[in-house]
Amino acid sequence: MKRRPIMAGNWKMNMLVSEAEALVKGLKSGLDGAEEVDVVVAPPFPSLYSVGKALSGSSIALAGQNLHWEVSGAYTGEVSATMLLDVGCKYVIIGHSERRQFFGENDETVNRRVKAALSAGLDPIVCVGEVLEERKSGRTWEVVGRQTREGLEGISKGDAERLVLAYEPVWAIGTGETATPEQVQEVHAKIRGLIGELYDEGIAQGMRIQYGGSVKPDNVRGLMDQPDVDGALVGGASLKVESFLGIVKF
Ligand code: PGA
Repeated sequence: MKRRPIMAGNWKMNMLVSEAEALVKGLKSGLDGAEEVDVVVAPPFPSLYSVGKALSGSSIALAGQNLHWEVSGAYTGEVSATMLLDVGCKYVIIGHSERRQFFGENDETVNRRVKAALSAGLDPIVCVGEVLEERKSGRTWEVVGRQTREGLEGISKGDAERLVLAYEPVWAIGTGETATPEQVQEVHAKIRGLIGELYDEGIAQGMRIQYGGSVKPDNVRGLMDQPDVDGALVGGASLKVESFLGIVKF
C-alpha cells in the first residue's frame, strides 16, 4: 500500500509572529498545492493564530506542539485541544523527546494527551525514540516498543487510523547526526509490526510513520526511499523556506 507522505516542520521555541508570518508566506508561494505530500507546520503557541490565518486557502496544515488533556479549567500555562482547533490546528505533536527530557512527559501523560486530542478531533503526531545510551546498550526496541504500546494504550481501531507516529532517535535530534536509512527502516518496520499486533494488518499498513532527527534536503531522499518511512518531522531545517521546501519536494 502506498501511504501519502507527511512532512511536518516543528519550529520548537523559535520564530516571533512577524518571522512566522514571513516563513509561511514563503512556503505558500513555493508550493502549488499539487504536491503529493501533506505539509504541516507547528509554530509556537503565540503565533498559531496568525499563522493559521496566513495559511487559509493553502494546503499547508497547522499543528500544535503540545496540548493538555483537560478541556478547560485551572491549569496555568496549559493549552487544550479545543483551543488548538479554534485557531485552525488539524494536528498536534505529542510526546516529543524534549517534552520527555525537560518537562516530565512520560508514557502515561502521552497516552492521556493522545486520547484528549483524538476525542476533540485533532490528529496526534506521537513521538517515540531512544536516547544514545539505550541504543548503545541494545535496548532501542525495548524503549521504542514500550513508548508505542503505552502511548497508544486504550486507543480504538477507528481512532488509531488517525494517528501519525514519529520515530525520533534522541541522539539524532539537533545534532547533525542522522540515523542511517537502514537504522531507521529497521525500527519503522518493527513499529509497523507492533501496530499490526495491537490492531490489524490494514491499520498497520495504513499508518504513517515519520522519521525525525537532523533531516535535511540532502539526506531526505535516502530516508524516504525506505519502504516504511512515510515522511519527516523536521526541526532546524524547517525554519528556512528553502530547506523546508527542499525536504517537502524530496
Ligand atoms: P532536528 O529536530 O531536525 O533539528 O534534528 C527534529 C525534531 O526534534 O523534531
